[in-house]
Amino acid sequence: MEEEIGGGKILHVVMFPWLAIGHIRPFFRLSKSLAKKGHKISFISTPRNLSRIIRIPQNLTHLINLIPIPLPEVPNLPPDAESSMDVPHVKQQLLKVALDLLEPFIRSFLENVKPKPDWIVYDYASHWLPQMAMEIGISRGYFSLFTAAFMAFLGPPSILMIQKGGRSTAEDYTVVPDWIPFPNKITFRLHEMTKNIEKDAEGNDYNSGTSDSMRFGLSIEGSDIVICRSCIEFEPEWFDLLINQIYKKPVIPVGVLPISMDDDELLLESNENSWLEIQDWLDKQNHSSVVYVALGTEAILSKEEAQTLALGLEKCGLPFFWVLNRNSLLEMLPDGFLDRVKERGIVYTKWAPQIKILSHPAVEGFLTHCGWNSIIEALGFGRVLITFPMMNDQGLNCRLLEDKKLGVEIPRNEKTGSFTSDSVAESVRLAMVGEEGKIVRDNAKDMKGLFGDNNERSNNYIDNLIRYMINKGR
Ligand SMILES: *[C@@H]1O[C@H](CO)[C@@H](O)[C@H](O)[C@H]1NC(C)=O
Ligand SMILES: *[C@@H]1O[C@H](CO)[C@@H](O)[C@H](O)[C@H]1NC(C)=O
Ligand SMILES: *[C@@H]1O[C@H](CO)[C@@H](O)[C@H](O)[C@H]1NC(C)=O
Repeated sequence: MEEEIGGGKILHVVMFPWLAIGHIRPFFRLSKSLAKKGHKISFISTPRNLSRIIRIPQNLTHLINLIPIPLPEVPNLPPDAESSMDVPHVKQQLLKVALDLLEPFIRSFLENVKPKPDWIVYDYASHWLPQMAMEIGISRGYFSLFTAAFMAFLGPPSILMIQKGGRSTAEDYTVVPDWIPFPNKITFRLHEMTKNIEKDAEGNDYNSGTSDSMRFGLSIEGSDIVICRSCIEFEPEWFDLLINQIYKKPVIPVGVLPISMDDDELLLESNENSWLEIQDWLDKQNHSSVVYVALGTEAILSKEEAQTLALGLEKCGLPFFWVLNRNSLLEMLPDGFLDRVKERGIVYTKWAPQIKILSHPAVEGFLTHCGWNSIIEALGFGRVLITFPMMNDQGLNCRLLEDKKLGVEIPRNEKTGSFTSDSVAESVRLAMVGEEGKIVRDNAKDMKGLFGDNNERSNNYIDNLIRYMINKGR
């Protein structure tokens, strides 16, 4: 018999992730983990994303309630946009305008739902939520889907709540901030920051009225606890700094929330035909020989970047599986490229089941944009990382991997971000087959224990969170 946590009290927890697939999924995994322990979940999102991203396992349907709230219309935002995938990067701020308009609907839900929620677990974008939940008398957990290193780099809420975190230029993000007391190289590169503050073709930067920095600051400041999707064993020095010096409030890691291969989420994802076709190709490749290339769904490569990357993959001489996401991108590839590499390379323009691909024994390395979700998935199978960060937190994640000797970064010009096909080929070969890369490959394999599907570790992390929520909740 399992020990009963908190005298068997049953919690009602409301979840409200930011409207991006990469946020909805980990929030839902946390929801399932809590529901498996008998707690009740109300999961709020927009209708289409709920119906398409989420599937509740049969035996948890009585514990997880999906709460669809339609997104209000906002000028310049495509009327059917509901998630960050539907909106170009530069218009993300408009999605935040729409999100902010949800405030009264969420308030009305929180005030009226029975039983009264004990906790709300929310994301960084809904900066108005903590204050509202406090007024209603609901405890508040800000759920950070970023590494502790990234959160430490962002800094304390007092700094974040100064407009733009007291950092006024892109250069300010390229130096180690004052509040990090130990020497380290974990900073952004200039070109990564200029990409973050990119404007659209007409020069609009679509301000939502509240900066992301302010959103982070208010979300952290107004929380009772900060829940982190990371594990202490991976970045102990950064957790220590966050807990003891930066936040000075409870920070509760829940582990990386790995997915198990028999999870419904994966079954839902593997549109059988596409997987069978991919599997068929992977089965024909040698063990640990393929580099899987996928640069995320949000950032889009420029034509020049796509061409350089393609030539680099061609020069590296290794088998590759490259997910390009959009058919239109095929036109950007160099003339004759597809033909020249057809014996050993696949360029895949449909949606690809990433976890299944990464789990295949033919795959050895992952050329990635360094989104935290992707890193977690790759290290869960011990795959070595070749890093090519594009935007958001990715640059910092890339530096953290470098620091932990888990990845090989494709060198780029710090100011312009330009790079060469030779450097792509060299980095890929170093990581995949080079003698000097052996240590990085070995380290990545060692990470399987921390990032893989490990029931006992995940279980302990979840129990710890539940214990906290029961004892310290309202
Ligand atoms: C729910 O079903 C899964 C298999 O689909 C099983 O592994 C799990 O233990 C079940 N959980 C509960 C709470 O019954
Ligand atoms: C979320 O909703 C939007 C439509 O609003 C859709 O384009 C996107 O694909 C959805 N996500 C998933 C995984 O279905
Ligand atoms: C597998 O490795 C062998 C020996 O190194 C090589 O001759 C063969 O071409 C490889 N197969 C593929 C599909 O790359």
